[in-house]
Amino acid sequence: MSVGPLSEKFRKLDLSQRQEQIRRTYDPQAEEWAAICTESSLDDLSDIMVEAAIGSVPVPLGVATGFLIDGVELDIPMATEEPSVIAAATFAARILRQGGGLSTWADESVMTAQIFLEGVPAEAESRLRQEEGRIGTLVNRALPGMKARGGGYRAMELSRLPESGILVVGLKIDVRDAMGANALNTAAETVKPRLEALGGGEAVMCILSNAARDRRAGARFALPVSKLSALGPGGMGGAEVARRIVLASRIAAEEEQRAITHNKGIMNGISAVVLATMNDTRAVEAGAHAWAARSGRYQPLSRYRLQGGSERSSEEQALEGEIELPLAVGSLGGAVGFHPATRLALRVLGFPDARRLSRIIAAVGLAQNFAAVSALVTGGIQRGHMKLHAARLAYQAGARGEEVRRVAEAVARGGRYSREEAAAILEQLRGG
Ligand code: MEV
Repeated sequence: MSVGPLSEKFRKLDLSQRQEQIRRTYDPQAEEWAAICTESSLDDLSDIMVEAAIGSVPVPLGVATGFLIDGVELDIPMATEEPSVIAAATFAARILRQGGGLSTWADESVMTAQIFLEGVPAEAESRLRQEEGRIGTLVNRALPGMKARGGGYRAMELSRLPESGILVVGLKIDVRDAMGANALNTAAETVKPRLEALGGGEAVMCILSNAARDRRAGARFALPVSKLSALGPGGMGGAEVARRIVLASRIAAEEEQRAITHNKGIMNGISAVVLATMNDTRAVEAGAHAWAARSGRYQPLSRYRLQGGSERSSEEQALEGEIELPLAVGSLGGAVGFHPATRLALRVLGFPDARRLSRIIAAVGLAQNFAAVSALVTGGIQRGHMKLHAARLAYQAGARGEEVRRVAEAVARGGRYSREEAAAILEQLRGG
């Protein structure tokens, strides 16, 4: 029985047959087709990476320049469909480097695999604890590569769910440079029968936790407030810009709806680097938002304050920003390092190990947030957005190459943002 326009056997066809069926069923326009079908070798990669592949969606990839992170100059590959994100990151990097750039830290790559056991009597818990050494050995045997690289089993935690009475066994494992999902799930499934036997219960399920609370990364900067004067409209001054940024930070801490948008701005930067390196965006996002809500109230992931006290002169004061969140990203394994696009992204980043990558990503998140909040408190973000909006209107009106820039500039100058206006300008430009 077919449930949609495509045949049920679609998934079982080979790549070229699937593409043929999509063409026949949906009759895509040439431009649409060209946009998802890359060179056949890359389509083959899609076919290995996911099921029922027909091509790939080319999310724009850009590079934010000028970052200074832990004293190292860096360009940052960012994959995003959103205009202004890369420009804003570059802008923030340029300002922040005037205060010495961003400094960062990261935990070891320790993640938790969870096994949920039902029917385990209370007295069996001590048996499980006594056997911890053997359980650790089992984990390490299941992950010989990880162990050889200095990772592997670290600890076991037991907790009881108050309502269902389920016993949760948490295995903490250092996954080194991997994101770790496969390793954790393998380890959990390997020890599951032993835990069932020891506990006298039955496993309901086992899987890693994307909370990644032991795998956090953070970044901070301190910027003399005088460096902020360029951001405000005439007459605002660096001290006032800094005061407003700190106030925006307090608003986000006090008001949940704003905290969510504040964090969305952070994730604009974070998810773009996570995606450019083909790490798991959903894992990072789930972990980040859960961390933001860890107190029971959703909170901003970053904070700003004035360092140096308000009694000092503006030259001596510094705006301090910091961020901290779980960042489970790998520098190898899964799609990372496998797809050539990720190798290019890692090359641009200097082939960091996983911890260094998480530190860079934390720094980009903070910079992105600084750019958004400083724009918001000094007149808004629409000006930057409208430039790119005008470029898209120009493109939709038929402009190509250099025409796009010229039509977009004319649209922005005139202030009438419509496709018709862009088409009229294009016609004039072409001497129509
Ligand atoms: C837009 O994608 C992100 C912002 O809304 C973030 C923020 O409000 O802080 C500008």
